[in-house]
Amino acid sequence: NKGNYEHYMQKEIHEQPESLTTTMRGRLIRGGSCKAKSVLLGGLKDHLKTIRRSRRIVFIGCGTSYNAALAARPILEELSGVPVTMEIASDLLDRQGPIYREDTAVFVSQSGETADTLHALEYALENGALCVGITNTVGSAIARNTHCGVHINAGCEIGVASTKAYTSQIVVMAMVALAIGDDTISSQARRESIIDGLFDLPNKVREVLKLDQEMKDLAKLLIAEQSLLMFGRGYNYATALEGALKVKEVALMHSEGILAGEMKHGPLALVDENLPIVVIATQDACFSKQQSVIQQLHARKGRLIVMCSKGKASSVCPSGSCRVIEVPQVEDCLQPVVNIVPLQLLAYHLTVLRGYNVDQPRNLAKSVTTE
Ligand code: UD1
Ligand code: BG6
Repeated sequence: NKGNYEHYMQKEIHEQPESLTTTMRGRLIRGGSCKAKSVLLGGLKDHLKTIRRSRRIVFIGCGTSYNAALAARPILEELSGVPVTMEIASDLLDRQGPIYREDTAVFVSQSGETADTLHALEYALENGALCVGITNTVGSAIARNTHCGVHINAGCEIGVASTKAYTSQIVVMAMVALAIGDDTISSQARRESIIDGLFDLPNKVREVLKLDQEMKDLAKLLIAEQSLLMFGRGYNYATALEGALKVKEVALMHSEGILAGEMKHGPLALVDENLPIVVIATQDACFSKQQSVIQQLHARKGRLIVMCSKGKASSVCPSGSCRVIEVPQVEDCLQPVVNIVPLQLLAYHLTVLRGYNVDQPRNLAKSVTTE
């Protein structure tokens, strides 16, 4: 049922304040006079000790689910102190990469049925790792075959391009990081501010959804482009990859997410006055580095669209010559949840304006059950 919306993708983008609320329901503890704020993940609580003791945490997934894990990686590393590595499921299988008994392997999948991810799970089980699932589908193959896990509870997602599952996956993995780090006194203040940020996150997403018309106007400007680059780094490297994936899979426009730190190692050669470039430069520890990336792109007359924190337009675009998308600022590790929303809206409007099928992109399937 699409309700008042024209497409499922549109409905699913707009229902993110509610889906995020459902994802967090019953899992955030407000704390009190003598009790700290904390998270409670029923499916993980008996396994946290083993995860903390593991030698490595390996995230495994495909497509949007991989990107969600990439967005959560920095906070998991920070709060757990355990090295976190990333694997695209098919690539792990192609290489038969090493997985050990001392590893925690985390399988991220909206459907819980993706063939590559499921085969990687079988492989990790054979190698004796603790296998954890993060999935939206109760009773799915990945939920059944992992040792433990967390359901993201985002509600049924119908649009082939994943939107609300992406934001809920990031929130669940941030909660996993909080739960693993729960025994560390030195990070308690940091954890509590992230928990406060989680409580307020649905409101911030509601606020960023007001950019709908602005994103439609931007889509009108970009409708006939051949290509669109997206630069991000740190917490928002994943945002660049995921924003580009949305544009390419639904709007059928070439788009590439680029790690801003790699700019001089190739991508800079593409920059001219024609190619549109989105730069994600919201407030965090990488901000000044992104400011310098913007200056360098600007010096080469790049056509810039800069995403920055509210009120910061003049510090990312002093000359006023770029287009700016201002988003509400949240806790750094939660910022990817807010930042992806305008890019989802942009991909949606580009698709409609270009006349393509929004909910069933050419050649793609919601759940890829063959390798
Ligand atoms: C569970 C109930 C929820 C109830 C809540 C009350 C289910 C599915 N969930 O939620 O309805 O409101 O208790 O306390 O009945 N699991 C995996 N792999 C996965 C995902 C989950 O093994 O990929 C396992 C978990 O380890 C857990 C079980 O499935 O044993 C349920 O997980 P989850 O729904 O996340 O647990 P709760 O949030 O506690
Ligand atoms: C397919 C979908 O390629 O599978 C993507 O079209 C999705 O949207 C990917 O990200 C992985 O799916 P899942 O269900 O494992 O998260």
